[in-house]
Amino acid sequence: MVVSSAPGKVYLFGEHAVVYGEPAVPCAIERRATVEVEERDDDALRVHAADLTLDGYTVEYDSNSDAHPDVDVAPSLIEAGVGYLNGAAEQARDAADRPNAGFEITVESSIPLGAGLGSSAAVVVAGIDAATRELGVDLTAREVAQRAYEVEYEVQDGQASRADTFCSAVGGAVRVEGDDCRAITEVPNLPFVIGYDGGEGDTGELVAGVRSLREEYEFAATTVETIGDIVREGEQAIREGDIEELGRLMDFNHGLLEALGVSSRSLDEMVWAARESNAYGAKLTGAGGGGCIVALDDTEEAETALKYTPGCEQTFRAELDTEGVRVEE
Ligand code: MEV
Repeated sequence: MVVSSAPGKVYLFGEHAVVYGEPAVPCAIERRATVEVEERDDDALRVHAADLTLDGYTVEYDSNSDAHPDVDVAPSLIEAGVGYLNGAAEQARDAADRPNAGFEITVESSIPLGAGLGSSAAVVVAGIDAATRELGVDLTAREVAQRAYEVEYEVQDGQASRADTFCSAVGGAVRVEGDDCRAITEVPNLPFVIGYDGGEGDTGELVAGVRSLREEYEFAATTVETIGDIVREGEQAIREGDIEELGRLMDFNHGLLEALGVSSRSLDEMVWAARESNAYGAKLTGAGGGGCIVALDDTEEAETALKYTPGCEQTFRAELDTEGVRVEE
C-alpha cells in the first residue's frame, strides 16, 4: 500500500487565458489531497472518497457495480471525480505495463471540490504517484505532471491547460505558457487569504463559455490577450518582490475575468470585502462560477471582513507549498 499527497493551488494570475497559450502563474498551497492505493487481486477499481468538500460528503464508486452515489454534490462533479481516478489508474497501468492491474483507492482531501483550488489536479497527481509506486514504478514529479495533464485533458474534453497539474506535482509558484512549464525560483512571501462561498463551478462549461465569447467578439479575444499582459507585468512584480503591484494586477485580472463572464455575485462580494479591508488585491481563482477568491493581505483584516461577508462560508490563510507531490510515510 502506498499513500501520496499533492497540494492544491491558487492562481495569482492567468486562469482561462492560459487555455489559449497565454502565460499563467499558479501557486501551490498547503492544502492537500491524500490518496492511498492498494493493488487488488482482480482488475477492478474501487474508490472510497470522504471529505471531498469542506463539508465532508462521502462518495463511493465501484467499477463492478451500477449503484450511484447518493450525495448532495453536483452529479457532474461526481462523474468528473470518477473520471479523474479512472484516468489515474489507467496512467499507472500504462507506466508499469500492467494493463490488468486493479486498485483499491481511498481519497481524503482538505481542498474544497470544484472551488478553484485545484482539487481535481491534486487528486490525479497524488493518485498517479501512489498507484505507479504501488506497481513498483517511481516517476519524477514532472513525469507525474505530464500523465496527470493527459487525464485532465481527457476528462475536460480537450480544454485543460498544464497549469493545475504541473503546479500540484512540482509545488511552489510556477509559470506555465503552453507546453512550457517552469518553477519560479525567487518568490516573495505571498500572504494568501482565501474566501470560499461553499459553491462550485463547472470548469468544462466555464471554459466553453469563454471560448465562445472569444470566437464571437474580437474584444473578448483581446481581453484574453490582456490577461496575458497582466501576467507578464506580474512576473516582473514577483522578481521585484513588489506586493503592492501584485495586488493591483490581481484586481485588474479579476475585472477582466468578470468581463469574460466567469465571476459570480458571491465571488465579487468576497473580492470587494477583501479590497475594502485594504488587502493589496483580490481576485477569483480557478475556473470561477462560484468557489474561491484569493486576496493578498498581511494583516488580519481581510480574513475578518470575509468572515462577516454574506455568501462567504469559509475563510482561511494559505501558505505557499514548496514540496509538490510527496509520499506520506
Ligand atoms: C481551472 O482551474 C483553470 C482554467 O484555466 C482551466 C485550465 O487551465 O485547464 C480555467
